[in-house]
Amino acid sequence: MNYKEMLPELKKEKLPKHIAIIMDGNGRWAKKNNTKRVNGHREGVTALRRIVEAASDAGIKVLTVYAFSTENWGRSKTEVSYLLKLIMDSLIKEIDELNENNVRIQFIGTKEKLDESYNKKVMQTCKKSWNNSGLKLNIAMNYGGRKEITDAFNEIHDDIITGKIEAPITENLINNYLYTANFPDVDLVIRTSGEERLSNFLIWQSAYAEFWFTKTLWPDFTAEEFIKAIMDYQNRKRRFGRRK
Ligand code: IPE
Ligand code: IPE
Ligand code: MG
Repeated sequence: MNYKEMLPELKKEKLPKHIAIIMDGNGRWAKKNNTKRVNGHREGVTALRRIVEAASDAGIKVLTVYAFSTENWGRSKTEVSYLLKLIMDSLIKEIDELNENNVRIQFIGTKEKLDESYNKKVMQTCKKSWNNSGLKLNIAMNYGGRKEITDAFNEIHDDIITGKIEAPITENLINNYLYTANFPDVDLVIRTSGEERLSNFLIWQSAYAEFWFTKTLWPDFTAEEFIKAIMDYQNRKRRFGRRK
C-alpha cells in the first residue's frame, strides 16, 4: 500500500504536533548489505527525503531528526568527517526542493567544534527557506540534550547577572532558552533499528512524549511505516498524570 492511501485514515485533530526521529541503524544496514558504513549513511539521507515528504503530506507541523550527536565525535575520524560532509552536501543539494515543498529547515545543536565556515554555510543555506510556511524541519546536528540544557543555564545566568531578566527561573523560562524555543513539546519519538533509548536526544522536550520503536533499520524505513507510527500514536491514551 502507498502511504498516500493511508492519509485519509489519520485523525486530523489528533496529529502529533511535534515528531522527533532517532534515525538509527545505518551501520548495521551497510553490514547487512555487504557495503561500507558510509553507504549506509548515504542511504539514510534518501530515507529522510521520503519521511520529510510523508510528514508534509500528513500535515505534521514540526519534525526534528537526529543527524549527529555530541557523542558521535567519538567515532573514527574518517566516519566523522564523512558525516559532516554528507550533512552539508545534502543540505545544499536539497535546499531548492525543500523550498518548492514549502519546508522551513533549521539546524539545532551547538556550534562548538565545527568550523566557523561550516556553521556559516549551514546558516546561509537554511535561511533561504525561512519564508516558507509549511513543515518545520529541524536537523539536530552536533546536538546533545544535556549540552543544550547546560548552555541554556549559562545564558540564563548571564542574563540575570546583567539584569536582562529576573529570578525566579521557571519551566517556561528554561523552555525559551532551548534551541527549540518556538516549538511545542515533542508528542512522539520514533527510533529505528531496535534500540530503545533516547541517546541524549531532546531530553527536556520529550518529558511526556509517546515512544514508538521499530526493528527496521533507518535506510529501510518507509513512509508507510511512518504513517503507521502516527496511527499507533493516535490510539494511545495520554493521561499526563491525570485519571482520564
Ligand atoms: C545512525 O546510524 C546515524 C548516526 C548515528 C550518524 P549508526 O551509524 O548509528 O548505525 P548503527 O547503529 O551503527 O547501525
Ligand atoms: C543516536 O544514535 C544519534 C543519531 C542517530 C544521530 P547512536 O547510534 O549514536 O546512539 P547509541 O550509541 O546507540 O546510543
Ligand atoms: Mg547507532
